[in-house]
Amino acid sequence: MKVLQVCAEIYPLLKTGGLADVAGALPLALKRHGCDVRVLLPGFPAIRRGVAAQQHLAVPALPYGARLVRGSLPDGTACYLIEAPELYDREGNPYAGPDGRAYADNHRRFALLGRLAAMLAEGLDAEWVPQIVHGHDWHAGLAPAYLKAAWRTQGRRVAASVHTVHNLAFQGTFGLEILAELGLPADFYQAHGLEFHGQVSFMKAGLHYADRITTVSPTYAREIQEEEQGCGLDGVLRARRADLSGILNGVDDQVWSPLKDTLIPSRYGAGDLASKRACRAALQREFNLAPQAQAPLFGVVSRLTEQKGVNLILSGLPELLARGAQIVVLGSGEPALEGGLREAATVHPRSVAVHIGYDEQLAHRIVAGADVLMVPSRFEPCGLTQLYALKYGTLPLVRRVGGLADTVVDCALENLADGLATGFVFERFEPADYGAALRRACALYRREGEWREVQQRAMAQDFGWAAAAAQYAALYRRLLP
Ligand code: ADP
Ligand code: GLC
Repeated sequence: MKVLQVCAEIYPLLKTGGLADVAGALPLALKRHGCDVRVLLPGFPAIRRGVAAQQHLAVPALPYGARLVRGSLPDGTACYLIEAPELYDREGNPYAGPDGRAYADNHRRFALLGRLAAMLAEGLDAEWVPQIVHGHDWHAGLAPAYLKAAWRTQGRRVAASVHTVHNLAFQGTFGLEILAELGLPADFYQAHGLEFHGQVSFMKAGLHYADRITTVSPTYAREIQEEEQGCGLDGVLRARRADLSGILNGVDDQVWSPLKDTLIPSRYGAGDLASKRACRAALQREFNLAPQAQAPLFGVVSRLTEQKGVNLILSGLPELLARGAQIVVLGSGEPALEGGLREAATVHPRSVAVHIGYDEQLAHRIVAGADVLMVPSRFEPCGLTQLYALKYGTLPLVRRVGGLADTVVDCALENLADGLATGFVFERFEPADYGAALRRACALYRREGEWREVQQRAMAQDFGWAAAAAQYAALYRRLLP
């Protein structure tokens, strides 16, 4: 079964968030389930630098003078890169310029991605023609639309399509004036198509035209069918509920495993938590925090945005400090949130440490060294950091929403008694609920034996990629004629 993955970022070459982790891990996991996988990516500089054995394909003229390159990703997966310097030769963030503003030609940059996906399905590379085109997020949202258009012109279905929503809040919506540039049939611009409040929505195109829609957790699959989390597309999703499912992301064991992680000061397993304490002490030293051991060290590795509940973290700081706890934050994002955190670190240098920026290695040291990892999100399609934390015996503190609700069990007395608890979960996106979870974490931390038990249970959870890959492979199979 030939499957083309279509995405805008991929670990370890280019990453702005969890999408890259998923794109990087899924191909090998799918191969183990009998899929012949290739990946189509825009030729961003960081991606071009990391792809081996690049070879230009002789193909008919492509839009924007683009050229198609075949090559091989660091894990050996075959890939196609779209070489279009005018569109993609920009360093840094793949979606926005250094001023943080989305590129004005994003519609071209990502329409081309969807278009080439469909062209590959039509046989652009005669040697390898995908039967399934699996696109991720709005960046690949037009792929199913171009496939539908190709079906019409060719009089046959060229490939089946799957569209995965990683975050419905980002939709790729553009003014109507871009429509002509897309080269899609005029009648695709309608409510049952890619029209969204008088604009053109790439995400809606994916949701409308894909044969199947998936999202990255079962709970988020339900939530996005409701107004509160539907971002205006809940009606479209309800209409397609028979074709919508949630498949929980996994953890790439090659990257995130406390037993093999070379980025942390000492490796450990569930039977050797003394080495985890060494990681904790090293983290305190690194940030010049007081070497206290009686209260938890909280960690945050996150985009600093409204979605991620950074406001709650800020509002809960007095409570945290009053209990003698500490916090290390790694992230970047909204200036006001960055400023609030920085200020707290200045006022409480021995208890609050903040590193503004993106740092893959530090992320590992925090996940290993913290006692609790906080992900108090307003919404969370899946969330990967709480999964990493579980594996590292770092108890997640999360809001009961999206993938967080599917992966963490609260340390309520009954869950502790039944041997189910793996972290701290609160309900409402409000300081009072968050604060109660924080106090629960501090209280359990004082009960050493119980804490260790919960840590070991967390570390034994299996959130590998095998289960997800099996579900995707089964979904693809159902789509084949
Ligand atoms: P999202 O994709 O919504 O940002 P996820 O939890 O799915 O959330 O994935 C976030 C990914 O990005 C994780 O791999 C996390 O470790 C990483 N990450 C987030 N912020 C940073 C940062 N400042 N430095 C390093 N890694 C980060
Ligand atoms: C998005 C979501 C996050 C999810 C990731 C990978 O960035 O915000 O919850 O884990 O995609 O699917």
